[in-house]
Amino acid sequence: RDSAEAAARLLSWYDRHRRDLPWRAKPGETADPYRVWLSEIMLQQTTVPAAGPYFRRFTERWPTVRALADSPLDDLLVAWAGLGYYARARNLHKCAQVVANQHGGRFPETEAELLELPGIGAYTAAAISSIAFGRKATVVDGNVERVVSRIFAVETPMPAAKPALRRLTATLTPEDRAGDFAQAMMDLGATVCTPRKPKCMLCPWAEFCDGRAAGIAETLPRKAAK
Ligand code: ADE
Repeated sequence: RDSAEAAARLLSWYDRHRRDLPWRAKPGETADPYRVWLSEIMLQQTTVPAAGPYFRRFTERWPTVRALADSPLDDLLVAWAGLGYYARARNLHKCAQVVANQHGGRFPETEAELLELPGIGAYTAAAISSIAFGRKATVVDGNVERVVSRIFAVETPMPAAKPALRRLTATLTPEDRAGDFAQAMMDLGATVCTPRKPKCMLCPWAEFCDGRAAGIAETLPRKAAK
């Protein structure tokens, strides 16, 4: 198996099937780091369909990170109502203020700098660095873990398999279009490589997939016996 060819196939699939989501730049547009950051924070605790209306309301009312930073926290908390986890909304406000006041209103590009910001952990730092800035970063969420455990037929149970799945994801991630690659993995996991009844006939990686070849794709990732 050749990672470069695998990445190219997935990206070509993404170009044809990418979901049109409110926070995604249209092909050819440059991504707005503020919108990428806001969407990734929202998506940590809610589904793509539920996040859409919140994302639209937030970006209409606060079109820039400075606007969000200058808004009273209470207005933000009211707009956040329904998303839950108010600590996230408080961190959102804190992070906006740090970016506005200490970074001149621009999000930093590297994972290391992003990790310093309030409310930004490893996943979010990698997602912003790759999706907003095109830097190579390994973006691993539950969808990605499922796809990768199937492609490589990783039978180690979760969560013990996490470090191996991260390394395998890093191997697959291309230098070019790392952000599109990350979002392609998310889309593949959400629409094709689903937890139940994966649609392998529609999968751009069907011929690469060790889990499918072994007839065990749907059983992966394994969970530790309780
Ligand atoms: N879930 C988290 N981030 C996402 C993104 N950028 N696109 C689709 N689903 C996501």
